[in-house]
Amino acid sequence: MGIQCRIPFSFLSFPFLLFVLFTIPSLHCTPTDTLTQSQSISVGQTLISSGQIFELGFFIPSNSSKQYVGIWHKNIQIQDRKVVWVANRENPLTVRATDSASSSLTIGKDGNLRLLDGMNTTVWLTNVSVHSNNSIAVLSDRGDLTVKDSVSGLILWESFNYPCDTVLPEMMLKMNTKTGEQHFMSSWLTEDDPSPGEYVCGLSLDTPTQVFIWNGSKPYWRSGPWDGSKFIGVVDIENANSDGFYIIHGNQPGSVYLIWHVYTTSYIHFMFLAPNGTLKRMFMDEQVKNPYVYWMYPANRCDIYGVCGPFGVCNKNTSPNCECLKGFVPNSIEDWKKGNWAGGCVRKTDLLCQKNTSSLASSVKAQNDGFWKLRSMKLPDHYEYLYTKDSSGCQQWCLSNCSCVAYAYVTGIDCMVWTGGLMDVQQFSLAGNDLYLRLSYSELGTDKKNDEKFIIGFTTISGVVLLGAFMYGLHRWRANQRVNKENRRKDFEMADSMDTSELPIIGFDKILAATDNFSITNKLGEGGFGPVYKGKLEDGQLVAVKRLSRHSGQGVEEFKNEIILISKLQHRNLVRLLGCCIEREEKLLVYEYMTNKSLDTFLFDATKKAKLDWAKRFHIIQGIASGLLYLHRDSCLRVIHRDLKASNILLDDDMNPKISDFGLARTFQVTQELANTHRVVGTFGYMSPEYVMGGLFSEKSDVYSFGVLLLEMVSGMRNTCFHCCEKYVNLLGYVWKLCNESRASDLVDEVVIDSCSWSEVMRCIHIGLLCVQGHVADRPTMSVVVLMLSSEIDLPHPKQPTFTSQSLSDVDLRSQCNRIYSINKASLSSIEGR
Ligand SMILES: *[C@@H]1O[C@H](CO)[C@@H](O)[C@H](O)[C@H]1NC(C)=O
Ligand SMILES: *[C@@H]1O[C@H](CO)[C@@H](O)[C@H](O)[C@H]1NC(C)=O
Ligand SMILES: *[C@@H]1O[C@H](CO)[C@@H](O)[C@H](O)[C@H]1NC(C)=O
Ligand SMILES: *[C@@H]1O[C@H](CO)[C@@H](O)[C@H](O)[C@H]1NC(C)=O
Ligand SMILES: *[C@@H]1O[C@H](CO)[C@@H](O)[C@H](O)[C@H]1NC(C)=O
Ligand SMILES: *[C@@H]1O[C@H](CO)[C@@H](O)[C@H](O)[C@H]1NC(C)=O
Ligand SMILES: *[C@@H]1O[C@H](CO)[C@@H](O)[C@H](O)[C@H]1NC(C)=O
Ligand SMILES: *[C@@H]1O[C@H](CO)[C@@H](O)[C@H](O)[C@H]1NC(C)=O
Repeated sequence: MGIQCRIPFSFLSFPFLLFVLFTIPSLHCTPTDTLTQSQSISVGQTLISSGQIFELGFFIPSNSSKQYVGIWHKNIQIQDRKVVWVANRENPLTVRATDSASSSLTIGKDGNLRLLDGMNTTVWLTNVSVHSNNSIAVLSDRGDLTVKDSVSGLILWESFNYPCDTVLPEMMLKMNTKTGEQHFMSSWLTEDDPSPGEYVCGLSLDTPTQVFIWNGSKPYWRSGPWDGSKFIGVVDIENANSDGFYIIHGNQPGSVYLIWHVYTTSYIHFMFLAPNGTLKRMFMDEQVKNPYVYWMYPANRCDIYGVCGPFGVCNKNTSPNCECLKGFVPNSIEDWKKGNWAGGCVRKTDLLCQKNTSSLASSVKAQNDGFWKLRSMKLPDHYEYLYTKDSSGCQQWCLSNCSCVAYAYVTGIDCMVWTGGLMDVQQFSLAGNDLYLRLSYSELGTDKKNDEKFIIGFTTISGVVLLGAFMYGLHRWRANQRVNKENRRKDFEMADSMDTSELPIIGFDKILAATDNFSITNKLGEGGFGPVYKGKLEDGQLVAVKRLSRHSGQGVEEFKNEIILISKLQHRNLVRLLGCCIEREEKLLVYEYMTNKSLDTFLFDATKKAKLDWAKRFHIIQGIASGLLYLHRDSCLRVIHRDLKASNILLDDDMNPKISDFGLARTFQVTQELANTHRVVGTFGYMSPEYVMGGLFSEKSDVYSFGVLLLEMVSGMRNTCFHCCEKYVNLLGYVWKLCNESRASDLVDEVVIDSCSWSEVMRCIHIGLLCVQGHVADRPTMSVVVLMLSSEIDLPHPKQPTFTSQSLSDVDLRSQCNRIYSINKASLSSIEGR
């Protein structure tokens, strides 16, 4: 049903093999994607990514005498090419007959990639401080130039972290609201000059964040705030959500990333900031031979930031474009008539709270201000975000603070209020958001026929009483809210992360009391490096206590990793670390307690598995994917779980999945990369081939484990020790066979057949197979997996997964399997790789 697998040995592969054999002798002369330490490229030579998609080399912009090293799409005709990245944009080489030919890009003794001019002077270098004797530079099919250590495979530097004017799919732009750090794309000075121009584009420090284009320090365009799935000020991109922007919160306090994903890799997509400040999204498919503009911003006069000034509103369909908001008049009629709108508008009638009430008649005092609803608006800039307020709380807050001029309550964001001039407001004809503008009673009353009128009819006196009651209610509600807050958080959002120093330390005595002296009746199970006990703290809270085994020699290091990592990582699909205890040689971790224990206790239990109907399973799959994506995407502390399996997925009361056991996870930081150990830690059946064989790990190793888990969820069978059909060593081999025979539906667990959605099930099998591909590059990233799970995009055909049959390691696996799994199903640790 819907899944086609490539036939392993078709006749088609025959000519391909011949071709490869034939071309081997000449490989040294053909361009490669890799520059090694003994090599250099000079003018005229290029690196070409393995899939022939990107090319890196020297170029001279038209009508220029400067030479640069850059990356461009190989498949775009030369006259339409856009250089997507420039190494030495600030230090061009001068084209002179003598030295231009002798410039070269090479890897120096310290492992850095360097650009040398004809005098052997370094013009540009990667400048990474980690020295490596085995650096290579590789140009990937994503357009990313990486410098990595060829022995460990670890990345020391990548061009994606140094954007110029172009963003390619999978690239990230970073900012941090706490430190104020912002990464930008910056325009070229002119079409022929790559040096940094006037315009930059990136995320603002607002909460929620928005994308800005700045002209120097002045805003030039803004996207409107992110509502969890889109930027709400951008409405006329057809189907803006699916254009693939994501905002992801990092694990460092305040860190936020903008990521751009594009599903189809066979087409050319890129986005660049033109020298005149226009952000252009380009697209080229196989039919059209040159890239064309898919969209661009600013697209019209109204998109230009603040064109109508404060309290002015821009409408691209009217002439003139600018008007004052209701209840406002031009600041200077003369300027306004001349079309010089920047001065904006001022309020016609003061708000009640702005007046000197002691001089007013009581009939006037009784007429409090109200709100006028404006529909389909681009909401103004400079908002304040009050995330604890519900919609009436939002309105009340605004009414009770005299400086509040408007509020909006937007799905996915909640309460936003404005206290200064309303800047950059646009009237859309479709979509947009409702903006509630605060006006005095008389302004609201002037248009009695209009049923959009929206008045809060409080008198001041009753308003005060109500407000008091409201504040009391709010106080109580907030107390409750603190408990519920975690549930309200969006997928990618995380609480402000704590330092380890802030992690509560719980006394050993308290833990002894909580677990009844580690009574055997409280034992929940045996984890990778010690037993886990159920406990009840003094305040009645149930917890799970992980006690590091004193006898386990290798556990200490894992413990330390776990405590540092887990305390920093918070996501609704990760088990929460509540505290720790390091006392009297005891090392203990205290976690939130999960009533439903782990996924394997349901999934692989003949009677309990029925409790997991398809909807629950799919929910669990999505939760795991989202938790794993969170781990992988925190680029400053990219966490690879390394031991993802059913028994490490815990389930809360509502069967929400939470990934546990980060003890094996390692941070993926440059400083640690060269200290790569060759020790393999993980569980057979879930480990990727490259990990088992070579000890190499990456996010893709987790993707492999996730794929196994996915197929287990669909089938209700364990991958290892799979006894269904003698011939197949494991579940993967069996899945591959069924799928080749178009019998994938036979795989589905009997107990979910009645409850399942066939399209979802088939999609999961398909994604599962993609995740367990033998070649790392054939596996999707978790971000793509999340997209594949949640949309109907076309999926590539899987190839035969590794570990299905006839490989040596399978024999090893089988014998290991009998030995280990007859005892228990604990992790295997410390298998020496290589
Ligand atoms: C090349 O640059 C010169 C001076 O910078 C200018 O006068 C000339 O018009 C340019 N030619 C083209 C084709 O852009
Ligand atoms: C630059 O270095 C290379 C290799 O070390 C050497 O062959 C060449 O003569 C040098 N060129 C100059 C101008 O110093
Ligand atoms: C390399 O990095 C160091 C430290 O970050 C800095 O001081 C130095 O100026 C950099 N060198 C170049 C050529 O960018
Ligand atoms: C690189 O090689 C030098 C000399 O062979 C050696 O002293 C140094 O430790 C090596 N560095 C690394 C990071 O392996
Ligand atoms: C960008 O800023 C510069 C300097 O302030 C100004 O001269 C120029 O007109 C601005 N560009 C636009 C498009 O507003
Ligand atoms: C900026 O330049 C592009 C061409 O690269 C053009 O399409 C666009 O209209 C220009 N925008 C402005 C505001 O001049
Ligand atoms: C308000 O009006 C009263 C009487 O007209 C006057 O005495 C008082 O100073 C005014 N207060 C302010 C803040 O203007
Ligand atoms: C009104 O709002 C402003 C901006 O948030 C704040 O600084 C001020 O303290 C508030 N005033 C009152 C009375 O709450």
